Amino acid sequence: MMKEQVVCKTTDIQPGEMMESFFGKQNVLICRTPDGEFYAFMNQCNHQGAPLDKGMMCGATTEHSKPGEYHYCHKGEILRCPWHGREFDIKNEGRMLANPDKKLPSFKVRVEGVEVIIYK
Ligand code: FES
Repeated sequence: MMKEQVVCKTTDIQPGEMMESFFGKQNVLICRTPDGEFYAFMNQCNHQGAPLDKGMMCGATTEHSKPGEYHYCHKGEILRCPWHGREFDIKNEGRMLANPDKKLPSFKVRVEGVEVIIYK
């Protein structure tokens, strides 16, 4: 069983973007938040298995939002599933916003020079 692996280069992903990669045979999602940090998750929604790299990185609406009026927070730190819109907090262990007990399986990430390395 592979313990760690280079999944991409830092230059492959701009802040606010994401890409899929592989950790062994596992399809993983590498997200780079607007502050430049890297995060890695299984590239599979925990609802019905959608490929999360086809979703988007966006913000969350705040509790103060009224219908038809949106205030965003955590801009670029929320991962939205492409199929039914479940949202996950990238910087908070991939927890689902609507149900924080549920989280996406994640990997640890380390950057060495230009290499992004993930490990269990
Ligand atoms: S598969 Fe992701 S919200 Fe349904």
